[in-house]
Amino acid sequence: MFSYIPLINTFLPFLLTLVYAQDIKCPITFDGRIPKNATKALFSSSKSPFNPKYVLGQNVTWDQVITFPDVPPSRFDRLVGGKAVEIKINDSSVFASTSEGAETALRRAELLVNNNNPTVSGIKNWHLSVRTSPERPLNYSHEYVLAWHESQDFQADFWSLKTGTPMGSLANDTYNSPVANKSTKGNGRKELYIQGYKWANPVQTFFSTPFLEDTWHNFGIHLDYDNNLIQILYSTGDLPLQIVTPLSSTNLSGIPPTTLGETHFGLQKRPFGANLTSFLYHGTQEVGIHEGIVYGGIWQEDSKVTSCANCTGCYTK
Ligand SMILES: *[C@@H]1O[C@H](CO)[C@@H](O)[C@H](O)[C@H]1NC(C)=O
Ligand SMILES: *[C@@H]1O[C@H](CO)[C@@H](O)[C@H](O)[C@H]1NC(C)=O
Ligand SMILES: *[C@@H]1O[C@H](CO)[C@@H](O)[C@H](O)[C@H]1NC(C)=O
Ligand SMILES: *[C@@H]1O[C@H](CO)[C@@H](O)[C@H](O)[C@H]1NC(C)=O
Ligand SMILES: *[C@@H]1O[C@H](CO)[C@@H](O)[C@H](O)[C@H]1NC(C)=O
Ligand SMILES: *[C@@H]1O[C@H](CO)[C@@H](O)[C@H](O)[C@H]1NC(C)=O
Ligand SMILES: *[C@@H]1O[C@H](CO)[C@@H](O)[C@H](O)[C@H]1NC(C)=O
Ligand SMILES: *[C@@H]1O[C@H](CO)[C@@H](O)[C@H](O)[C@H]1NC(C)=O
Ligand SMILES: *[C@@H]1O[C@H](CO)[C@@H](O)[C@H](O)[C@H]1NC(C)=O
Repeated sequence: MFSYIPLINTFLPFLLTLVYAQDIKCPITFDGRIPKNATKALFSSSKSPFNPKYVLGQNVTWDQVITFPDVPPSRFDRLVGGKAVEIKINDSSVFASTSEGAETALRRAELLVNNNNPTVSGIKNWHLSVRTSPERPLNYSHEYVLAWHESQDFQADFWSLKTGTPMGSLANDTYNSPVANKSTKGNGRKELYIQGYKWANPVQTFFSTPFLEDTWHNFGIHLDYDNNLIQILYSTGDLPLQIVTPLSSTNLSGIPPTTLGETHFGLQKRPFGANLTSFLYHGTQEVGIHEGIVYGGIWQEDSKVTSCANCTGCYTK
């Protein structure tokens, strides 16, 4: 696992700017960047780049869940005149699926990219930026999934960006982070971390970094579905992305024919005192929550072109 330590790495952006001075234009395979003039209603309409109905609490609509916070645009929104989007959850954020009923122990509001096989196959790079909500803090005693790839049979997560204290870690802390303050275990881990395949044993954590207030955290997630490989790029503020992990093996394909799947961006607040096998219906959630997370610049590029100096191929930094 690799940790981004700002003090030690301050010289890296300069070096990498030299290496990647020639930016190559990559074909865009999905664009979820939201224009400055967009209204909340966009998200409930067929014009939304995301699914206008899912994944939300029962009888909740996207226009009720979205706000546009007063924060500067993220690095990749700036390129296209986009703006930041805040996603909110409260006690009504209980999703009910047709097969499994109301997921009473989860709170969810996740923008969904589904029925879009090119986004979950080939060699692709996701970009996204996240920052804390200025008004609706999270409770870092809980585990939150902020972005993830769900398999087509809904049984596995191939990669996930998370924050907070991993479920089950109070009983048996197998998550080992060099930047975590061990003595605050149980009071919450205010870090962003990227993990691999849900059923991997142990689950791999590729990268982690402190989740700072009022700061854009920018991610590049390079996914080679053909060869089951992942690589992470990262920066804060307006700095260009830099490579922060090696190209690593991870299971991005599951059990055929349930490969492909869909990608989620939002808040999935998992219950306290549950574990991976029980979290839809067991464990606890506090009552009276008003929490949010801010997203910027969600988009994806094709990375088949491999003329860049590094294995991430074509990639906007
Ligand atoms: C936003 O501006 C663009 C470009 O001027 C225009 O095409 C679009 O219709 C506008 N959208 C809204 C919701 O006003
Ligand atoms: C959602 O609306 C349906 C239809 O009005 C109602 O039966 C159901 O109880 C509502 N669910 C919640 C959680 O409010
Ligand atoms: C949660 O937010 C939704 C959307 O704004 C609202 O309809 C609902 O009443 C809220 N629920 C609670 C318990 O505050
Ligand atoms: C955070 O969550 C834990 C577990 O649900 C709960 O005990 C605690 O009261 C919450 N803290 C705050 C500040 O809401
Ligand atoms: C905690 O996890 C480790 C590593 O998987 C395992 O060896 C150990 O038995 C576990 N301890 C408990 C109390 O479950
Ligand atoms: C860890 O957290 C505890 C409790 O909040 C605090 O007293 C301690 O100074 C922290 N340690 C470090 C190294 O940040
Ligand atoms: C991914 O995991 C599934 C289930 O354990 C397994 O069937 C499949 O072969 C794995 N794929 C790779 C590439 O390891
Ligand atoms: C997970 O939670 C369920 C329900 O509380 C419990 O039956 C099971 O033993 C737990 N599994 C682990 C691995 O802790
Ligand atoms: C790819 O990037 C890594 C990390 O920055 C670097 O160590 C390696 O030399 C690069 N590979 C090539 C072929 O440039």
